[in-house]
Amino acid sequence: MMTVRICAGSSCHLRGTYQIIEVFKRIIEEQALQNQVELKGCFCMGRCTDGVNMEIDGRALTGIKPEEAADVFQREVIDPLKERPAS
Ligand code: FES
Repeated sequence: MMTVRICAGSSCHLRGTYQIIEVFKRIIEEQALQNQVELKGCFCMGRCTDGVNMEIDGRALTGIKPEEAADVFQREVIDPLKERPAS
C-alpha cells in the first residue's frame, strides 16, 4: 500500500489541494488502485510558501499544481507501483 498525504492547510488549499485530490481520486477509481493507494488529507506541513505540498510514502513533494496532478500521479505513484514486486 502506498500512502499519499496531501496538505489541506489553508495556503495549500488556496493553491489547489481540492482539485489535486479530485484528480488523484478519479485516477485511483479509473485504474482500480483502491487496494494499492491510500489517499489522505493532512494538516499544514510547515512549507506553506512551496505549496501544494504532499508526501508519498514519506517522500516530500512541493509546488504541485492542479494542472500537473495527473502527470505527478503517474510518475510518483503509478510508475513506482509497477516496479514493486507483486505481493
Ligand atoms: S498549508 Fe500546506 S504546508 Fe502549510
